[in-house]
Amino acid sequence: MLPDAQPSNDAPLLAVRDLRTHVFTRRGVVKAVNGVSFQVRAGETLGLVGESGSGKTMTCLSILRLLPRGARIVSGEIWLQGTNLATVSEAAMERVRGKQIGMVLQNALAALDPVFTIGTQVGEPLVIHHHMSWRAALRRVVELLRMVKVVAPELRLHSYPHELSGGMRQRVSSAAAIGCAPALLIADEPTTALDVTTQRQYLDLLMELQQTTGMAIMCATIWRCSMAVCSWNMGRVSRCSASRVIPTRRRSCSPSPNSASPASACRALRVSPQTSDVSRLAVPSIPAVTRPSTCAGRASPRRC
Ligand SMILES: Nc1ncnc2c1ncn2[C@@H]1O[C@H](COP(=O)(O)OP(=O)(O)OP(=O)(O)O)[C@@H](O)[C@H]1O
Ligand SMILES: [Mg+2]
Repeated sequence: MLPDAQPSNDAPLLAVRDLRTHVFTRRGVVKAVNGVSFQVRAGETLGLVGESGSGKTMTCLSILRLLPRGARIVSGEIWLQGTNLATVSEAAMERVRGKQIGMVLQNALAALDPVFTIGTQVGEPLVIHHHMSWRAALRRVVELLRMVKVVAPELRLHSYPHELSGGMRQRVSSAAAIGCAPALLIADEPTTALDVTTQRQYLDLLMELQQTTGMAIMCATIWRCSMAVCSWNMGRVSRCSASRVIPTRRRSCSPSPNSASPASACRALRVSPQTSDVSRLAVPSIPAVTRPSTCAGRASPRRC
């Protein structure tokens, strides 16, 4: 079992302050992330929503300093448990990646190496960070694959990524990301490759894992398309627009009996992403959403 991380209400687990990441190309500078600030507390779920190109992926990659060629953090702070990740050495970042922060990349196929088996890829972080023997790591991989509901995990250990369906790859990516019991899981559009029903199952799985492990989840998802799924599951939502995060008020993560339905949470966010006046777009805090017991298993997006 993964060790339980105790959620604390004091200092945030992750605090991003005025982060600016620019991409330097031959044709000019792209301000991919332009003054983003938000925070994630231990054990909470933050949804980072925004239209395509608003800088969600670049924000996620900046936190782990896994930026593409030409991209650089030009200013800002990324505080993780008292350490500013924007300034630490690469060796220190290697200890953070996978161990303190796990990440599910936007493209699950690209995230998995085609020449290594699933067992090797999911087991490697355990060997590196937890100094496990390969035999013990592979036993743990089977447990992890079972946890993310991969069927016949003992057999899948020897499969290559191309032999899996999109949904299975996504689950395998999650298994790799949670293997070392990170305090924070960053999931970048984790459901784009999945149909609506599987999206829902996958997000339920993330929530289940969160309850088991106590990890915080930061989930980046595209504007509108996954909004209903997002509002259904997220504890708090920040909206990313024009490479900035529009501040939202903090609210209690414990839902009240009168909390809003997913539909009203979606309505609360329905503002035109085209408008250039970001201050007008400031959305109210998204109320907590409790899933009515009668709706269990129903795909929520249709209701919104
Ligand atoms: N390698 C790159 N070179 C140049 N510009 C880039 C590069 N990667 C991203 N960008 C630019 O940075 C901005 C933010 O991109 P990002 O991928 O973070 O958007 P996103 O919100 O994740 O979009 P999507 O929802 O489509 O995944 C975009 O304007 C994009 O064109
Ligand atoms: Mg993206």
